[in-house]
Amino acid sequence: MDAHPKPEILLAPGALDAALRADVRAGLTATPKTLPPKWFYDERGSALFDRITRLEEYYPTRRERAVLTERAAEVAALTGARTLVELGAGSGEKTRLLLDALDLDTYVPVDVSGEFLAEAAAKIAADYPGLLVRPVVADLEEHLAALPSGPRPLVAFLGGTIGNMTPAERHRFLTAVRGLLGPDGAFLLGADLVKDTGRLVRAYHDAEGVTAAFNRNVLRVINERLDADFDPDAFAHVAVWNEAEEWIEMRLRALRPQTVHVRALDLTVAFADGEEMRTEISAKFRPAGLKEELTAAGFDVSVLWTDDDGDFSVTIATPASV
Ligand code: SAH
Ligand code: AVI
Repeated sequence: MDAHPKPEILLAPGALDAALRADVRAGLTATPKTLPPKWFYDERGSALFDRITRLEEYYPTRRERAVLTERAAEVAALTGARTLVELGAGSGEKTRLLLDALDLDTYVPVDVSGEFLAEAAAKIAADYPGLLVRPVVADLEEHLAALPSGPRPLVAFLGGTIGNMTPAERHRFLTAVRGLLGPDGAFLLGADLVKDTGRLVRAYHDAEGVTAAFNRNVLRVINERLDADFDPDAFAHVAVWNEAEEWIEMRLRALRPQTVHVRALDLTVAFADGEEMRTEISAKFRPAGLKEELTAAGFDVSVLWTDDDGDFSVTIATPASV
């Protein structure tokens, strides 16, 4: 089959740019300031995330891979999937465990990071010659209903990216995923679990500074795409555990008072010395809470597995019978 599948682009021309503009204007004029994590992922951001997944401190990728290694055959037996639609696919490295175990006709990796997606999909297409690979550039918050699918679909959302959404965003998203699935479809969800605070914080504040570079990358993206003049080095990387919400918050803290111009938006923004801007939440779950959220979105939970240390969960859910 086509060794270099060209991504199908579901984003209307200019839609991503319009969304970035709206998010940056809203986020930089809010109190406190905030930016959505979606904008970390240009090609450099995706490559930095890939480095994060290999860091000693960043356990989620390894732990999820351990669960998938152990359970891939059961995923195949339980779902009988012929089509795999992977949301926020990134490099798709762990997904190979599923591609090896499932008897698939079609793989649809979906991501907002277009160039990175194209390269990842080309590698997978080259390594799985019998598989139809249909990469799709889309925004999960907007385009779920327009995604291509196929017989016996398994929709996968791995890596714990569900934790980067607020509870309200999660409910909307999970309900939309439920709406995608016919009676023979299933959902495979990877979610990180609450654990020792020290380990959690270290996973988001690694010694090498890769997560700090990933965090600051959002400022470079805004500089490049919106002709802004952020000095990324004038912001410190901050990662804190929010005990009440049970999520990690990544922030950027202004190291001195400064004024930033976002010329494409005709916007001037002042940062006070020490002012913090939230750039990501990464919620950590408890199995009971996860099941409740899936049930509230119209799913039945078939199984919830964890790795041996109980660090990370992988759940299979199917549409609840009405
Ligand atoms: N699933 C992979 C990658 C996780 S990183 C893994 O488990 O390692 C999160 C991925 O989601 C990135 O590739 C990012 O580009 C993508 N992403 C984040 N927000 C998105 C959105 N709103 N729409 C589509 N993709 C998004
Ligand atoms: C993609 N997502 C699940 C990662 C996480 O752990 O929340 C993004 C990340 N942010 C910092 N490190 C990794």
